[in-house]
Amino acid sequence: MKSWISAIILCTLIYSFKEFQDYFEERPKFFPPPYSSTNNPTHLGYDLGRHLFYDPILSIDSSISCASCHQQSSAFSDNLRFSKGVNDNLTSRNSMPLFNLAWYPKMFWDGRAKTIEEQVLHPVRHSKEMGLNWLEAEKRISKSPFYKQKFKKAFGDAKIDSFLIAKSIAQFERALISANSKYDSVLRGQAYFTAKELAGFNHVNDQTKGNCLHCHTTDGNALGTTGKFSNNGLDTAMLHISFKDKGLGGNNNILSDYGKFKIPSLRNLLYTAPYMHDGRFNTLEEVLDFYSEGINQSITVDSKIANVLNGGQHLTNKEKQEIIAFLKTLSDDSFVKNKKFSNPFK
Ligand code: HEC
Ligand code: HEC
Repeated sequence: MKSWISAIILCTLIYSFKEFQDYFEERPKFFPPPYSSTNNPTHLGYDLGRHLFYDPILSIDSSISCASCHQQSSAFSDNLRFSKGVNDNLTSRNSMPLFNLAWYPKMFWDGRAKTIEEQVLHPVRHSKEMGLNWLEAEKRISKSPFYKQKFKKAFGDAKIDSFLIAKSIAQFERALISANSKYDSVLRGQAYFTAKELAGFNHVNDQTKGNCLHCHTTDGNALGTTGKFSNNGLDTAMLHISFKDKGLGGNNNILSDYGKFKIPSLRNLLYTAPYMHDGRFNTLEEVLDFYSEGINQSITVDSKIANVLNGGQHLTNKEKQEIIAFLKTLSDDSFVKNKKFSNPFK
């Protein structure tokens, strides 16, 4: 009897692992293991989630969808400093690009959502984004024959509720994998960097030059970020109360986390300007000038930022241009054009 039970448990485990693997086809080269979502292991809700992602039905006046602020051609960000939600409200932070989300331990610039599933629950009811309460959202979806049929395919006879809506959108988001840039081809041995790009790669990973490696990984870990939180010295703040946006600290109330933000990936920067949590830089040139000469002293500035007192690493123009040439190789044209991720209503 007991062995029957263990056999069933084992089969279920293998089955759910297999389902989870199907997401990724093959783990991209030099990606660490993803964070698995034990409570949402299938991808049967992918098609449903993809439709919901592109459907303004989840906003109060049916004017805004997730895709309004997360557009595929911009690697699922929106190229605005701040995004426009319902009633022309502006968000207080820059829209984040969406890719390789399964590898992030936390979501949002301030880490306030632990999982992709939990993240989805925020924008729908946020007054500056979609402004719709979840009861009304559930009602709308339950009334639609189109979605009823899609829900049945994804979740059987389960009652349509906010958690299943979130699960299906999260399944779509988890599949947004970007690992096919020139940089990836080089890692796979299918292409070469130009001399300029290679020099840039070396500066990024050289602590006496770009010194980017502690936070933005490109050597050994191909995600382009550690996924952690840091204060990279954007603003001067000698007291905790001086931070205009407290970032992670505003979420967890830990003083030493004030002014820290999620470290974004170096992937797809060609599509995602403007940069930083408040979109303050329009070009990669401005970003490099900042890291080279514009670093500010502040009470929680990361100790891995070198030469803070001197404003940064003081790179030459040639070195900056080489780094930018390398950063461009991390942009993945096939991702922003992948038909699997496009608007299914078109
Ligand atoms: C009005 C614009 C807007 C809408 C609509 C919107 N978002 Fe966002 N999204 C943002 C902004 C701005 C951020 C960063 C907010 C922050 O960190 O405080 C963000 C962050 C995220 C993140 C975090 C990514 C990361 O790397 O941590 C995910 C995931 C996400 N949004 C998915 C969605 C989904 C799914 C929907 C639809 C249910 C949606 N968004 C609707 C603007 C929007
Ligand atoms: C100590 C950690 C750290 C180091 C070192 C570091 N960064 Fe960053 N980087 C961050 C953080 C944190 C952010 C987000 C800051 C914010 O918006 O408040 C960021 C943001 C960026 C962005 C904006 C991306 C976006 O999507 O908005 C780029 C580009 C960037 N860094 C490139 C670099 C380069 C190039 C180097 C090396 C010259 C470097 N970084 C060094 C932590 C670091």
